[in-house]
Amino acid sequence: MSEDNGNRRDFLYVATAGTGAVIGGAAVWPMINQMNPSADVQALASIEVDVSDVEPGTQITVKWRGKPVFVRRRTAEEIADARAVALADLPDMDARNVNATPAAGETETFADDANRTLDENGEWLVMMGVCTHLGCVPLGDAGDFGGWFCPCHGSHYDTAGRIRKGPAPENLPVPQASFIDANTIKLG
Ligand code: FES
Repeated sequence: MSEDNGNRRDFLYVATAGTGAVIGGAAVWPMINQMNPSADVQALASIEVDVSDVEPGTQITVKWRGKPVFVRRRTAEEIADARAVALADLPDMDARNVNATPAAGETETFADDANRTLDENGEWLVMMGVCTHLGCVPLGDAGDFGGWFCPCHGSHYDTAGRIRKGPAPENLPVPQASFIDANTIKLG
């Protein structure tokens, strides 16, 4: 039995045993609830991710705000592949990156590879691991473009997480992210 289940069972037992004191219990509950962070606060929380062990050509998946986030350290080849793609070949030409700002004179941030990555060299790619079709979690190192593949309905993303083939309408979104030191990425 997991600790979780144990705690839950303990709680149920305590709650059942405490029915005799239901009035007192009812008065206490609002106070306890106020001491827990509200759903809003939890949703806004930021987290720090240690990326010191992430080797080129691998990725880690972390859970943030209840969803998977992919943090990939790309190889030189992956970067070159992504940068060789013409914007016109992309079904979604929007960078979908909340950290990127449009170039001077433009109103839109385009999905050039440089607008997708966290660092200028393009080594670090951080994206929500949620397919933009119907929300499955795509598989890494997979698909026709060497990036990610969503097996639910066959969406192929390239090494910059841009949709290239299949029903997904948009690139995998890049959440608010930044390096706070050489080994740590902050999400949120
Ligand atoms: S949910 Fe990914 S292709 Fe449909």
